[in-house]
Amino acid sequence: MSNLVIVGTQWGDEGKGKIVDLLASSADAVVRFQGGHNAGHTLVINSKTFKLSLLPSGIVRQKLSIIGNGVVVDPIHLEKEIREITNQGINVNSSNFVISSDCFIILPIHKYIDSLRENQKKGSKKIGTTGRGIGPAYEDKVSRRGIRFSDFKNLEELKEKFISIYNHHNVWIEKFEGKELSYRDDFETILKCYQNLSKYMDKTWLLLKQLNDKNRKILFEGAQGFYLDLDHGTYPYVTSSNTVASNASTGSGSNPKYLKKTLGITKAYTTRVGNGPFPTEEDNDVGEKLGKIGNEFGTVTGRKRRCGWLDILMLKKAITVSGINGLVLTKLDVLDSFKDIKICTSYKINNQIVQDYPSNLSSQQSIVPIYETLQGWEEKTKGITKFEKLPLNAQNYVKRISTLVDCDIDIISTGPERDENIILNEAFN
Ligand code: IMP
Repeated sequence: MSNLVIVGTQWGDEGKGKIVDLLASSADAVVRFQGGHNAGHTLVINSKTFKLSLLPSGIVRQKLSIIGNGVVVDPIHLEKEIREITNQGINVNSSNFVISSDCFIILPIHKYIDSLRENQKKGSKKIGTTGRGIGPAYEDKVSRRGIRFSDFKNLEELKEKFISIYNHHNVWIEKFEGKELSYRDDFETILKCYQNLSKYMDKTWLLLKQLNDKNRKILFEGAQGFYLDLDHGTYPYVTSSNTVASNASTGSGSNPKYLKKTLGITKAYTTRVGNGPFPTEEDNDVGEKLGKIGNEFGTVTGRKRRCGWLDILMLKKAITVSGINGLVLTKLDVLDSFKDIKICTSYKINNQIVQDYPSNLSSQQSIVPIYETLQGWEEKTKGITKFEKLPLNAQNYVKRISTLVDCDIDIISTGPERDENIILNEAFN
């Protein structure tokens, strides 16, 4: 038994897609367990770019790809994504792709409400959601109003559920927009999607049990990052699911005793899309330079990402809560041209030195980062595959991070291509 959970340690966009793709070559199955098509995973293979939002990244390697019960699925989007990836030459069929029939679905009304709510909010009160209906769909799940794929077995009851959801949300829509949304067209559209997608549906908890019984290697692919976690992140500027590693079990139905190793994916600097606290943000030329070299634009929304230095206190909390026992440092090459590189090692809040990430939003917003400055290497590291080949200052940067967070760095990513990595520890063994 050798299962692996991959999670982001920052605000998402740490480069998980590339690492999942790399490790998927040694896996038998890849499983998504939370989030939805708010995620954006970019894979570059032989200069060909694949952009995935909902399909597990393992599909590109033709590995068994599973969408677990914790994921919210927009059936219209899923059909489109399957179509697009098929057009890029990737075969998606019921032998290599399985969706849990326990998944809750995102309806067009969820997407509508997501945007409407964001538009109602002013300035920094906006969360900056992806506008894909993720929050409203999870809300309906928690309020016990939601619709699951398994509900499509009884069309009369399904229609009642649609009516109840639309009635519920129409009270609010009517108040702000002076109109109501009709469930009828959406019901027909989603039903058609279901009919096309039903061939992929199954009991994924059982499938995972069978795989575990046969000692298969399963890779759990987290979406977003630790600080977007509903409980542990920078609430309310978070997503609506738990992004921590332990949700790999709840969100897939896989017994937690099978989760062996957790890899935390960490960008060599920090980025964030959307609003909310970001203590080490460099809202200046440094941030602009990081964003330009790192091509920091959202995969899903195209939005420009906010950029700043690496934050050790944030990383430590993510390692502790997610039980991370190996790190993957990505995009090291983006720092190649920096003369000095900063790492935040403690905070000052109201003139007090603080060593742990605070939970209160106003404390998070008052953080003054305290930095350690390391000398940059000002040499090209792109594509390097051996640690000894890295410039000495780059080696020092990597070692310093590992020492400060007391965690091994298992892989260093030195470019977007599949083989641009330094492997220090094999993740699956
Ligand atoms: P939602 O998940 O669309 O509700 O958005 C909530 C917050 O999470 C916003 O700040 C989004 O920008 C952020 N977010 C959601 N998914 C991702 C992701 O995959 N990468 C980075 N940020 C994300």
